[in-house]
Amino acid sequence: MFALNFNNTDMHIFYGKVALIAYLKTIKTTNSTIGFVPTMGALHQGHLALMQRSLKENDDTVVSIFVNPTQFNNPEDLAKYPRTLEEDVKKMRVLSDKIILYAPSVEDIYEGETVSQHFDFDGLENQMEGKFRPGHFDGVGTIVKRLFEIVTPTNAYFGEKDFQQLQIVKKMAEKNNMPVNVVGCPIFREDNQLAMSSRNERLTPEERKEAALIYKTLTAAKELFQTSTPEETIAFVEESFQNNERFTLEYFVIADEATLLPIDHRNKDKNYRAFIAVFVNSIRLIDTISLN
Ligand code: PAF
Repeated sequence: MFALNFNNTDMHIFYGKVALIAYLKTIKTTNSTIGFVPTMGALHQGHLALMQRSLKENDDTVVSIFVNPTQFNNPEDLAKYPRTLEEDVKKMRVLSDKIILYAPSVEDIYEGETVSQHFDFDGLENQMEGKFRPGHFDGVGTIVKRLFEIVTPTNAYFGEKDFQQLQIVKKMAEKNNMPVNVVGCPIFREDNQLAMSSRNERLTPEERKEAALIYKTLTAAKELFQTSTPEETIAFVEESFQNNERFTLEYFVIADEATLLPIDHRNKDKNYRAFIAVFVNSIRLIDTISLN
């Protein structure tokens, strides 16, 4: 089933959980720590930064590469998601041959039933990505819980670009009493400040250049928010995208960072964050910025 030839790599690569779990048992000692970086592959600098941090902070680091079907609400998005295992392995080897890679099949994870478990994340799942991608966070919760059970990490690293996902994973771990420290890591950006994402690979060079408008608008909105109402800030962002026909704004939300609930007025003691989802022609991109 796996035609790729990785014979000249010293990295440990596992395609099945049974072998991975057995191997982790042999390397674990009473006080040793396992860092974990779950990914869907098509690795970019942002992923590599998560791995670097894990390598630095833990005795061992496990990376998973698995395009999880249950978190895609759009079959075309799933079909088109880049799958680049061979290049991904090369990138990881440059970083460190100490990385332990888990690249399971759908069968290894779902055992014949490719369905999500239903979760209650105390409402975190109802906003933004949850609203526009029905079932997405049940899929994320299902796969991350499964991966945490298999890898039993001490620390697990997630990028803040998917801030809502990060909060949901923290909630999932807490509600299931999983002894893992979920660590949020800063967004990695391209030279033009576009947030790094595997989806950027699908943009044309022209679209990639123009997508700089997303972060530019977020920083302008942050500045405006210091002296304006949420409503005025939202109107400014909506107008910025209306003026450019390549872009379709799906949502721009200003929310309380802890509850992710949209706000209509500010309260001095709270932390706020702006969230955005935009189509650049047919490619959907998300980004976020702290407003404090
Ligand atoms: O952020 C991602 O790439 C995915 O949602 C994750 C956390 C690997 C789960 O499939």
